[in-house]
Amino acid sequence: MRLLLSALLVTLPGLALATPAEEAAAARIGYYKLVGLEMSGLSAMAKGEAPYDAEKAQAHAADLLALSGYSHDDTFAPGTSNADLPGKTRALPAIWENLAAFQEKGMAYRDAVVALNTVAGTGAEALAPAVGKLGGTCKACHDDYRAKDF
Ligand code: HEC
Repeated sequence: MRLLLSALLVTLPGLALATPAEEAAAARIGYYKLVGLEMSGLSAMAKGEAPYDAEKAQAHAADLLALSGYSHDDTFAPGTSNADLPGKTRALPAIWENLAAFQEKGMAYRDAVVALNTVAGTGAEALAPAVGKLGGTCKACHDDYRAKDF
């Protein structure tokens, strides 16, 4: 049985290629893609590219709030910057050089998500500025901590 298993592992090299660091970075990117997906639904309504829908707006905001409760520690493991994993991540080493400053950007983001949740379902007029403010906190973090390209 053990022999069979090791034979299997040898014949399936494609299955176990990613290192733990690469898996952490991939999970982190997946997390942010979820954030991006919810945000794009909100932005479209805020810009008038999609009709305002109170239920949808509130659902996007609630998803962002749920995501913001996720603890990032594992996905920001040391050794997972774009200097460690070229081509696999856009996370700049600056994140780990001053984690407290990076976390402050995260707290500003979370505050904006909480504020958005109080108004998202109340009308397009209230949604637009709250989404704008939230978008500013995404940009503030990306400007300092995300590389332009992979
Ligand atoms: C506290 C910092 C921070 C905040 C706040 C933040 N991001 Fe990011 N985001 C990052 C970092 C760092 C990466 C790069 C992750 C990687 O490549 O490993 C990233 C990656 C992404 C990605 C992944 C795909 C890509 O193009 O790299 C998307 C989409 C994204 N962010 C959207 C958003 C949106 C939308 C918001 C706000 C609603 C936001 N982010 C808020 C730091 C942040």
